Amino acid sequence: MNDLLKFITCGSVDDGKSTLIGHMLYDAKLIFTDQENALILDSRVGSRGGEIDYSLLLDGLMAEREQGITIDVAYRYFNTEKRSFIVADTPGHEEYTRNMAVGASFADLAIILVDGSKGLLTQTRRHARICALMGIRHFVFAVNKMDLVSYDAEVFQKIELDIRKLMVEFKYATLCVLPVSATEGDNVTTPSKNMLWYRGATLLSYLENIDVSKEESKEGCILPVQRVCRPNANFRGFQGQIVQGKLSVGDKVKVLPSGQTACLSSMYVTDKAMDTCIEGQAVTVSIDREIDISRGCVITTEESLSIGRLFKASLLWMDNDELIEGRSYLLKLGGKMVPATVQKLHYQIDVNTGEKKLIKKGHKNEIISCDISVSEKIVLQNFEKCMAMGRFILIDRVTNMTSACGRVEYVLRRSDNLTYQNMDITRDIRAEMLGQKPVTLWFTGLSGSGKSTVANAVEKELVAMGKHTMILDGDNVRMGLNKNLGFTETDRVENIRRIAEVAKLMNDAGLIVLVSAISPYNVDRANARAIIGDAYREIYISTPLEVCEKRDVKGLYAKARQGQLPNFTGISAPYEVPKDAELSIDTSLMELERSVEKIVKLCCV
Ligand code: ADX
Repeated sequence: MNDLLKFITCGSVDDGKSTLIGHMLYDAKLIFTDQENALILDSRVGSRGGEIDYSLLLDGLMAEREQGITIDVAYRYFNTEKRSFIVADTPGHEEYTRNMAVGASFADLAIILVDGSKGLLTQTRRHARICALMGIRHFVFAVNKMDLVSYDAEVFQKIELDIRKLMVEFKYATLCVLPVSATEGDNVTTPSKNMLWYRGATLLSYLENIDVSKEESKEGCILPVQRVCRPNANFRGFQGQIVQGKLSVGDKVKVLPSGQTACLSSMYVTDKAMDTCIEGQAVTVSIDREIDISRGCVITTEESLSIGRLFKASLLWMDNDELIEGRSYLLKLGGKMVPATVQKLHYQIDVNTGEKKLIKKGHKNEIISCDISVSEKIVLQNFEKCMAMGRFILIDRVTNMTSACGRVEYVLRRSDNLTYQNMDITRDIRAEMLGQKPVTLWFTGLSGSGKSTVANAVEKELVAMGKHTMILDGDNVRMGLNKNLGFTETDRVENIRRIAEVAKLMNDAGLIVLVSAISPYNVDRANARAIIGDAYREIYISTPLEVCEKRDVKGLYAKARQGQLPNFTGISAPYEVPKDAELSIDTSLMELERSVEKIVKLCCV
């Protein structure tokens, strides 16, 4: 059994979460005398009429919140004679779902508080579901405030039944339902005299004795490489934390995704040479031959790891922005960070009710089932088989915020048999034959801002200079390649992705490409930049809305104002102003020739 138990407490302020843990620390004499004295003094003016308010021990978090300091998760450490504990204290309200997910991802066990006078609430279901999603397999439900229901066995039994029904759908290893009174101390550290009908363990003794070690001990070792270190010319070390199994010097290991093999020649923990290391240890290893290993590779003796670029996932969407099918993010899994696209949204699981609903978009705090593809083959594993290689986060490319955390359900084999074919005639050769540097000039801005006019003038100038060009104009592309797309956010994501892919192909052909598309969303332009790479130059045509609307060359603003054109950019759909455009041009202020001159210069840098 593990000496350390990491657990999370889930419950809202009113459930008595802080009181429960505070009472446990107090009774078990796990606080210092000065803390005890301060507690007695503080409680005199507290909410319990002079009785000790145990929650004051834990509510540092609240005080900090009042000061406006944001705390994700507060970790507390304590020891009893039998065991060491780390508890992740997270706020329980729905707006703090993100914090709870962070706390749950670290914990082996969850204590979920249920108010005995209210029974199972929506939030109880949410807490259980998020803990299960994040991989917690040991659950304790503390049915609190039993003093308020006269310590009635029947009330408890009904709640216990509801809990067991709720838990049926989750794959848990142990489940304990325990009647307590956090304020009075019943069944916290000492058996309750008020509930002689309950014969189980007290909360503390249960926590001291529960075995949370994984049932099957997996032998195969997994070491995701987080860093390559080269202190001198003779040593090349690979650093990371062993997430499964054990590793010994002399072991024959495989390096994934390449599949090359080698033998382990040395191993260190800090600067101390080791023969064998086990799960959880952070190590530096070296191998007996030169193999190309970088961050994100995995050194392993485990045979069952997968290599793939498409997988089915469940994720908790945590962003205020909606999740849109087809949009690209950065995915971090193991030591690897790669561009990833949410390919297909299957359904949403209501966090509160468990109901599955078909969706077109994902919203904050929803659990979503979807397919995710990554830009290159990565090493991964079903979350159920190996948490460390089966959990990931999605990062927004523009804000750098974590938009989602999720788990790999299984790898989809659909795209496995594709291999990029390298051809002898490269982009460089083609470009040289045309005597030019292929770039994509990406014009973004409102309808009527002058994108097409400017792009047209720039192209004429480039052709006059003897350059080979092609224009991809939003309206025109929508009449052919993209004729199946409309103007919803999802369709615009796909419109921009396709245009970017075509622009890239044309750059490969050696051409200078001019794209003229509203491309209203920052993330999608960031994705276009990622697809097109160094050749991408963004030009923001910043002509103000009032001017565009006054021009109204196509009469669309008038229609939009009359409500005849839904999702019209600038009126009933957003336009996000670019943050990192290479150039901004307001056509109501700058002469066309001057704009052309400035843009042409961009082709040379
Ligand atoms: S984008 O938003 O997906 O980049 P794109 O540039 O391809 O749009 O197409 C925009 C053109 O479609 C506009 O110039 C306009 O002529 C036409 N259009 C028709 N309906 C809309 C709409 N709802 N919003 C914006 N443009 C529209």
